[in-house]
Amino acid sequence: MFAVGSGGRHLEEEIRRLGGDVMGVELKTFPDGEKYVRVLDSSESVTVVQSTFRPQDERIVELLLLGDALRSAGVERLRAVVPYLAYSRQDRTVKEGEAVSVRAIMKAVGLYYEELYVFDLHNPGTLRFFPGKGINLSPARAIADYFREKLGDGIVLAPDKGALERAGAVAEKLGVEYSHFEKRRISPTEVRMEPVDVEVNGRNVLIVDDIISTGGTMIKAAELLRRMGAKRVFVAATHGVFAEGAIDRVSKAVDELAVTNTIPTPVSKISIVPEILKL
Ligand code: R5P
Repeated sequence: MFAVGSGGRHLEEEIRRLGGDVMGVELKTFPDGEKYVRVLDSSESVTVVQSTFRPQDERIVELLLLGDALRSAGVERLRAVVPYLAYSRQDRTVKEGEAVSVRAIMKAVGLYYEELYVFDLHNPGTLRFFPGKGINLSPARAIADYFREKLGDGIVLAPDKGALERAGAVAEKLGVEYSHFEKRRISPTEVRMEPVDVEVNGRNVLIVDDIISTGGTMIKAAELLRRMGAKRVFVAATHGVFAEGAIDRVSKAVDELAVTNTIPTPVSKISIVPEILKL
């Protein structure tokens, strides 16, 4: 049985349509801003679906309250599906005294849940902080299926070397070639791209990343590809975090922008719900 928090409401209709049994959950916010959670059913095993996009902190608290309510209701096996895990980019300390935020979140979730499923975690190694079983799911199949016809025999590119494995997973499902850009971050707002090591002239290209935030990375990559003679440029990412104006900026720079629905946005055209139903 599923229990859906406010960060999973956009997925609920599809979960039901694909045969998922969803229990009633009452969610409220008190006048002072505090959250209220009540579950209206119980089962031996429950999967909570709660993505933690903005307002992140509120959704994290809701996830914990759902865990508490479900344990009190007698649930024995409690799994959390958190399609987008907030704070995942703060995975190490740079300055002395900083919090490793993703560790704090994973430990807190582990107080109630024995299994945690996330999609395309920024640093999959951080799942070691989760005390139970932590699984990083890939949206590669869903992204590949969405772009299969449009891309044809084009190529898949990662915006940097670190993202090569993700691009490779999508390319493998499509049976096409893949490579990466060289990216150098000059400052928090400036990224410089170096040319790719494959021929893009006259070919369709799909650039795949985990997160689009300001869109700067994708726009630089797309502009470079245009200059190199690429035919059609498509952009896909797992998490559309999107800073203000980013959707418009990226959309103007490419032939199509599509992200998964780990976060609901106007361009969340690729669904990860079938992967959730497989768990
Ligand atoms: C960085 O490590 C991530 O994988 C993304 O490349 C980054 O978050 C994209 O950010 P932006 O859209 O602001 O360039």
